[in-house]
Amino acid sequence: MQDIRETVRKNYAEKITNKVNSCCDNSQHSISKDLYLVDNLENLDLALIATSFGCGNPTALAHLNQGEVVLDLGSGAGLDVLLAAKLVGPKGKVYGLDMTDEMLLVAKENQKKANIANAEFLKGHIEDIPLPDNTVDVVISNCVINLSGNKNEVIKEAFRVLKHGGRFAVSDIVLKKPLPEKIAKDILAWAGCIAGALLEEEYKNILTAAGFVEIDIEVTRELDFTKQNFKNLIDGLSLTERTELKSSIVSAFVSGIKPC
Ligand SMILES: C[S@@+](CC[C@H](N)C(=O)[O-])C[C@H]1O[C@@H](n2cnc3c(N)ncnc32)[C@H](O)[C@@H]1O
Repeated sequence: MQDIRETVRKNYAEKITNKVNSCCDNSQHSISKDLYLVDNLENLDLALIATSFGCGNPTALAHLNQGEVVLDLGSGAGLDVLLAAKLVGPKGKVYGLDMTDEMLLVAKENQKKANIANAEFLKGHIEDIPLPDNTVDVVISNCVINLSGNKNEVIKEAFRVLKHGGRFAVSDIVLKKPLPEKIAKDILAWAGCIAGALLEEEYKNILTAAGFVEIDIEVTRELDFTKQNFKNLIDGLSLTERTELKSSIVSAFVSGIKPC
């Protein structure tokens, strides 16, 4: 797991340092394209989108309420944290957790520019969340859990920190079919959010084993690897192999509840 984590950390440190935007790729036009509508940016600076590396828009789907405590796993440069902070208002609080110093630095700068007081960025690992039990109303995340080499631990930790009745409301890459071996074993495809993704059934099983109920996985976008803009995410595949991947890899909104 250390190797995977270090590869992932270096990858995202480099991406944010070079301001390469969009999840897992160096093109504007891949998984992250057009996820955020200007109308839903809660008056935040449009430029924040350029520091976003997600594959969904969890705050648009998580039904956040005023006064809630939210935790964003792998908060990156902080766009979802700042959006959530606006949605929960001054009586609420949003934590962003990330392991990459370079990301945390940009996130804190972004917070300062947006003049948002009810957000806090924490350094740490999503497999070992530095928050007490039963303290969070909603766990959000955007294209991060697929990157972990120990997803059981991440989900157990999310369950632990949630209050009873709390919501797991996460955007992630999910597989509809197993990946061909050569992609599944490619560490760069892992750092690119693909090779580490769980099959839909596996995701549900891990959530159930941790204790979550009302589990749902809703596809929000199908990724078409025959398109030029997705090519960088997976290297060395023929057009036929890319075509076979069609409908296998999706962006999804994964949700569940910690029972009362
Ligand atoms: C694909 S980026 C997504 C960032 C952000 N959620 C967004 O939507 O822009 C993945 C982020 O997760 C962080 N990350 C990956 N694995 C992590 C882990 N095991 N613990 C903490 N942070 C992690 C990386 O440092 C990076 O900032």
